Amino acid sequence: MPNFKWNLAERIQKNPRLAWVVFGATILVVFLVGLFASTIMERRAEALYANRTLAKIGPFESRNAVWGKNHPREYESWKKTAEMDKPTKYNGNTVRDDLAEDPRMAVLWAGYAFSKDYKHPRGHAYAVTDVHQSLRTGAPTNEKDGPQPGTCWTCKSPDVPRLMSKNGISNFYKGKWAALVSEVVNPIGCADCHEPNTMSLQISRPALVEAFARRGVDVTKASHQEMRSLVCAQCHVEYYFKGEGKYLTFPWDKGMDAESMEAYYDTAKFSDWKHALSKAPMLKAQHPDYEVYQTGLHARRGVACADCHMPYRSEGGQKFTDHHIQSPLNNIAASCQVCHRESEDELRSTVYARQDKIQEIRLQLEDALVKAHLEAKFAWDKGATEAQMEGALGLIRAAQWRWDLAVAGHGNSFHSTVETARLIAVGIEKAQAARIELVRVLAQNGYHQAVPLPDLSTKEKAQAHIGLNMGELRAQKESFLKNILPKWLQKGAEREQALESSGGR
Ligand code: HEC
Ligand code: HEC
Ligand code: HEC
Ligand code: HEC
Repeated sequence: MPNFKWNLAERIQKNPRLAWVVFGATILVVFLVGLFASTIMERRAEALYANRTLAKIGPFESRNAVWGKNHPREYESWKKTAEMDKPTKYNGNTVRDDLAEDPRMAVLWAGYAFSKDYKHPRGHAYAVTDVHQSLRTGAPTNEKDGPQPGTCWTCKSPDVPRLMSKNGISNFYKGKWAALVSEVVNPIGCADCHEPNTMSLQISRPALVEAFARRGVDVTKASHQEMRSLVCAQCHVEYYFKGEGKYLTFPWDKGMDAESMEAYYDTAKFSDWKHALSKAPMLKAQHPDYEVYQTGLHARRGVACADCHMPYRSEGGQKFTDHHIQSPLNNIAASCQVCHRESEDELRSTVYARQDKIQEIRLQLEDALVKAHLEAKFAWDKGATEAQMEGALGLIRAAQWRWDLAVAGHGNSFHSTVETARLIAVGIEKAQAARIELVRVLAQNGYHQAVPLPDLSTKEKAQAHIGLNMGELRAQKESFLKNILPKWLQKGAEREQALESSGGR
């Protein structure tokens, strides 16, 4: 084997310009090695910065700003959930009065608190204040008063795990909503999703763990990618308040699809309320984002909620998770284009096209359901008996359950377009079957004409028709917000202040 040095020397002798090439190459190599070393040092320094611990965080620390001292980037992006500047075609972070936009919904919920007030969701930063403001929580005059149980607070605040550990889970649920106003003060935040020492994702709400356990699944052993959806499934799911103790329960024992949850409720003979017009035993679907998402293509391909709603961001060479949870359409570059090549416009119009089509059939189902409730009321007034009405009322219950499941998850028409369309299609079929049944019942009671339908074209008209005295409800709420709430909030602020001076939980 020829000696390389000798070989090179001989070559340089033959061609002196080669010496400059070797010299240049050496300098380049030294430069690149240096650059590489400096990047390693920089990344190490950044990692140190990212993991540095300034404050020791207790297991039930609910004050987001305290966590924010350790994790400023995540905290700053989390604070942006308070922004209210980006409506999208159907969703976005602004306040929208759904009952005003679509008064049919007030009729569909007649007899239930949702008919008084229902707003589209906005950012997590408002979770606590929006419950104060809503007419659904009424106007309690003292801590033992008011229409809602403590359970109502469960998906609003990191104060919840703190209070559950202090008071016990079932006591937390069965108390009055009013009793906890001075305790639940921090909006959805770090302790809801993170274990404080390792910052790993955790499930802080027992209802989710219990629901999976009843199906034989230990959800605390879920994979990392599953956890990136399960932290959301603590709240963005269908649930009900079980029994006298109002124990928060997810109806998943038979499965998570519409028919399995319906079978669960039917077997338990459960209904959320009796409809004020039709007297049908109704179910209210809450916000079944997680369940309906599971039936879509992205879920099938292993994409998690956080992939679109909490994409990665980069700042000063540091990659971190964007905690500004919002409509992904307000951040298509980071939310979609990491996986898709299409332009922003193309991706946005793909989403809108699906939402438009679902909206079209959704309104058809609503029209059919509104008529079914009104016609049922008319049949009762004409003297129909319980036995005559039973079939129609069962169909109304089943149709509206599907409508609510399809509509109450505000991302459904994109998350799982086909399943959402199926729910609405079956809903339309059942609502029309109820109406045919009602024609028969009316005939049995000697009525053979079309049922006269009132004008329900505005929220005001719809609410008046179902017997709500909105003036009175609003006046009571104003009085609560002016005279009672500030005192309770003051009490909460003083407790937080005392923590500040004593150095935390
Ligand atoms: C502790 C309960 C809870 C958890 C956990 C939670 N959410 Fe929410 N989420 C809510 C509530 C309550 C609202 C409505 C707040 C309001 O309107 O005041 C909401 C609103 C939203 C909105 C609407 C925001 C807007 O700008 O309109 C999105 C999107 C959302 N959540 C996605 C998620 C995702 C994704 C996760 C998991 C990474 C998650 N949420 C985890 C309770 C929760
Ligand atoms: C609704 C759930 C949720 C809330 C609320 C939340 N996080 Fe996160 N956080 C996540 C998810 C999901 C990730 C990504 C974790 C992963 O994939 O490993 C994450 C990641 C992180 C990380 C790891 C580094 C990174 O950026 O990926 C830190 C640190 C962090 N969050 C801090 C915070 C702080 C501070 C708060 C409160 C201001 C907070 N988080 C609130 C869900 C949440
Ligand atoms: C983590 C990767 C990932 C992200 C982020 C992502 N997608 Fe996808 N998307 C996929 C995969 C994988 C498929 C399925 C492709 C297949 O199997 O043919 C898909 C399919 C789709 C489809 C066709 C599926 C259907 O239902 O017919 C649309 C439309 C779509 N994505 C839009 C979006 C939009 C809009 C966003 C952002 C809000 C987004 N995607 C974010 C990975 C992703
Ligand atoms: C592939 C991307 C993608 C994934 C994954 C995804 N979403 Fe969405 N989500 C969207 C899009 C797009 C919308 C529609 C936004 C709009 O209309 O402005 C949406 C809407 C929503 C909304 C209503 C937003 C608003 O502004 O009111 C909520 C809540 C929501 N998603 C929660 C979830 C939850 C919980 C999961 C996981 C179970 C999830 N999403 C998974 C893309 C995604």
